[in-house]
Amino acid sequence: MNISLIYLSKTGHSRKLAEAIAAELQIPAQDIKTNPQIKGADLLFVVGGIYGGKSDPKMIEYITTLDNTMVKKVALITSCCSKVTAQSAVREELLKNKIEVLKDEFICQGSFLLFGFHHPNKTDIQNAVSFAKSNKI
Ligand SMILES: Cc1cc2nc3c(=O)[nH]c(=O)nc-3n(C[C@H](O)[C@H](O)[C@H](O)COP(=O)(O)O)c2cc1C
Repeated sequence: MNISLIYLSKTGHSRKLAEAIAAELQIPAQDIKTNPQIKGADLLFVVGGIYGGKSDPKMIEYITTLDNTMVKKVALITSCCSKVTAQSAVREELLKNKIEVLKDEFICQGSFLLFGFHHPNKTDIQNAVSFAKSNKI
């Protein structure tokens, strides 16, 4: 199975999750800022944060460039301090482009000011890695 991983991170949390997952799966963690070219991915991990209740517009802009000839299936890994806000707009854009998105989304505690201070911690990162490993089949 061809697995790829992309991430976008403002304050470094999504990057930490992305790098830990990528190291475990022995694949590169590709920063969306470098405009990675995804080809023939059976599974793509999309790792990103939430800002003002939404994904970064640069994430949405990149996601709209993907289609189902480049990627079959996506797993979303989200970092936010509320622990509940999903990457809903990312999911919607992928589904519009007929890319399958796993129902399960891993939402990891991040932090903003005093909310979620010290997160993501080691356990959060390990849980994200376990989620990725359990979905790579
Ligand atoms: C400007 C800003 C706005 C944020 N707004 C939200 C929000 O609306 N809801 C939420 O759950 N987390 C919010 N957060 C917390 C981030 O989603 C969280 O810290 C996440 O881990 C950031 O990921 P990153 O470090 O990869 O950028 C916000 C963080 C920042 C910096």
